[in-house]
Amino acid sequence: MRMIIDTDAGVDDAQAIMMALASPGVAVEAITTVTGNIHVDKVVPNVLTVLDIMKKDAPVYRGADRPLIANWSPEEQVHGQDGLGNWKDRPPTQRRAESEHAVNALLRLANQAPGQYTLVALGPLTNIALAAQLDPSFPAKIKQFVFMGGTIQAMGNTANLTSEFNIYCDPEAAYMALRAFPMSTMLSWETTMAHPMTWAQFEALTGLDTDAARFMKATSSVTAELIKSYQYDGYLLPDPLAMAITVQPDLIRKSAEYAVTVELHGAHTRGQTIIDYRGRSGHRPNVRVVQELDMDGVAALYRRMLA
Ligand code: RIB
Ligand code: CA
Repeated sequence: MRMIIDTDAGVDDAQAIMMALASPGVAVEAITTVTGNIHVDKVVPNVLTVLDIMKKDAPVYRGADRPLIANWSPEEQVHGQDGLGNWKDRPPTQRRAESEHAVNALLRLANQAPGQYTLVALGPLTNIALAAQLDPSFPAKIKQFVFMGGTIQAMGNTANLTSEFNIYCDPEAAYMALRAFPMSTMLSWETTMAHPMTWAQFEALTGLDTDAARFMKATSSVTAELIKSYQYDGYLLPDPLAMAITVQPDLIRKSAEYAVTVELHGAHTRGQTIIDYRGRSGHRPNVRVVQELDMDGVAALYRRMLA
């Protein structure tokens, strides 16, 4: 599998990237970055650090530094000021990003290998929307588009109660991306909440005596404490679940295809993904909504990536 990852690397993004880098059948051929949880100028070094930790190489590209239209402010309470849990013992990286802009890299790669790349988006869809606007043939040249984002029962995690962060951060980009791709695979916030890693598994995995496990432990403490304060049943894995179903599709136990769009104007609902469950919109299904996953399989992927 030839993969491109688009990320606003935060803490869970980092784990998703580690999962891809540790998957034998996956070639991570590009990592594009975007402003989301934190500014893209902090996302780039975070991605470079993950490559250092995993001792893997991939070109990293700097992308959009703000949403298309929406105002932006950092989500430092979730991922820390640095986007990696305010990791204090962070070693400097010698790596550097490429000079090519992420959107131009997306278009170049799709044109060089049409129908070959699996594109996994782990943050706001600003780069994806810009690519599709710059070259309308871009979506057709992507083999599979998977994204973490959206809500399927209006249970969100942002100031707009029905909206999930990646969509809420750049609703116009999400609207454009879902309209542009003939089919996308969506890992929603409710599916994330329904499939936590148990705290016992989290403690066991972050207790492993490896650099990768120590990295996960050191960077996840801020987020883990926040999750515990919200009384979730375990450690939440939004981006890692989107990556898990990409590298191992048989982890999907239940999914369904619906017509999905994005609310842009609602005073309370801007950024909500609107699911046409009853096929009444007249629009053809454009999103495969993942509803259930095999969490034993996800734990196995974590054990492999942290080994
Ligand atoms: O709402 C969850 C999403 O927001 C994840 O991608 C997480 O990394 C944050 O960006
Ligand atoms: Ca993310």
